[in-house]
Amino acid sequence: MKNILIGITSSIASYKIYELIRLYRKNGYNVKVVATKNALNFVSPLVIETLSNNKCYYDEFAPRENVEHIELCRWADILVVAPISANTISKIAAGIADNLLTSIACAYIGSKKPILIAPAMNDNMWNNPIVQKNLETLHSLNIKVVEPAEGFLACGTSAKGRLAEIGLIYENSLRLLFQDKKNNSKKILITLGGTKEKIDNVRYITNLSSGKMGIALCDWAYKLGYDVCAIATIDIDKPYKTIKVNSALEMLEAIKAADFDYLIMAAAVGDFRAANVSDTKISKEDIKDNFSIELTKNPDVVKEISKNKKGNQKIIGFSLTDKDMIETAQRKLKDKNLDFIVANEIKVALNSDKNKVTIIGKNGKMIDIKEDTKDNIAKRILEVVCD
Ligand SMILES: Cc1cc2nc3c(=O)[nH]c(=O)nc-3n(C[C@H](O)[C@H](O)[C@H](O)COP(=O)(O)O)c2cc1C
Repeated sequence: MKNILIGITSSIASYKIYELIRLYRKNGYNVKVVATKNALNFVSPLVIETLSNNKCYYDEFAPRENVEHIELCRWADILVVAPISANTISKIAAGIADNLLTSIACAYIGSKKPILIAPAMNDNMWNNPIVQKNLETLHSLNIKVVEPAEGFLACGTSAKGRLAEIGLIYENSLRLLFQDKKNNSKKILITLGGTKEKIDNVRYITNLSSGKMGIALCDWAYKLGYDVCAIATIDIDKPYKTIKVNSALEMLEAIKAADFDYLIMAAAVGDFRAANVSDTKISKEDIKDNFSIELTKNPDVVKEISKNKKGNQKIIGFSLTDKDMIETAQRKLKDKNLDFIVANEIKVALNSDKNKVTIIGKNGKMIDIKEDTKDNIAKRILEVVCD
């Protein structure tokens, strides 16, 4: 597993990094933390050591066996400094190395390994041209800057300066760790979630799809460096582009309007929609006991798209069934002119964090992926279907 070195500087937002440490550890990453001495006014070494399961480093001259800043540089696969203060931004940009964190940054920049910084500060500090110039210097050195968000600041104003969401810092750092730069130019479009078909202006018919498989695919595609766009029926707050749709027809239009090298149809598209949608709420008082809705068939979204498939585009479908999983998937693969189909079973896959799939290629080759988390399965699917 990868080694994450987190640097914490002195900011009112420093406490938020407890959550970042937890997130990395929960997902199996090794974490070590270096704090500036000023940061220890805001965070406690005891909490950091407990959460990271490692010593909290802050004293460059503490008794030790190794030259600590060089050892930590060697150990880390990525350096994430969050929050980074105006002071530390400016010191690193000037090449100053006057404490353990700035000494590590100085050596780490020279090593060309990935660095991410997430500034947080008062809006006037953020708008200071010297701070901005120093940030530009760091940006020009290939350091990823996750910019602060707008919102309520500790100083009482509402402006740009809040530390970016922890999830955003986490996802961006994983993309830096895992990306293959050759993927940056490849567009991957992933549909996810269950479609919603309106009955009237307040009700709809949907299905039990959680969208978890699709989100896992988007997350891994983003980490691996692809240009990701999710077409989703659920709200997701991720660093990649998301287009929100509701119905199967809206999903079809959104795919038609998008450009892609790979289309992965992980959404559970409703087969039917109401033949007539009422503009006003259907009233209970107007109905005696039973009430029927006439349904009409939706277009087969993936089949429609694959009819106009261009050049090197690859289309990957999903098949979710109760029985005859392989036979059904093979039939759909052919009928819908797909490049691959991912077959999975309702009892394992639906609304669950785990899955077990068989990937079938148009050449007939089958790859079984044993039961695992949707996160691990997503990575394997992308390895198989994307070349
Ligand atoms: C209560 C308080 C909150 C602060 N919050 C921030 C902040 O969010 N961002 C920032 O750049 N500086 C902030 N500062 C100022 C820094 O703590 C100060 O510049 C310090 O020297 C930075 O040290 P370091 O970069 O070595 O951690 C704050 C200071 C105080 C007293």
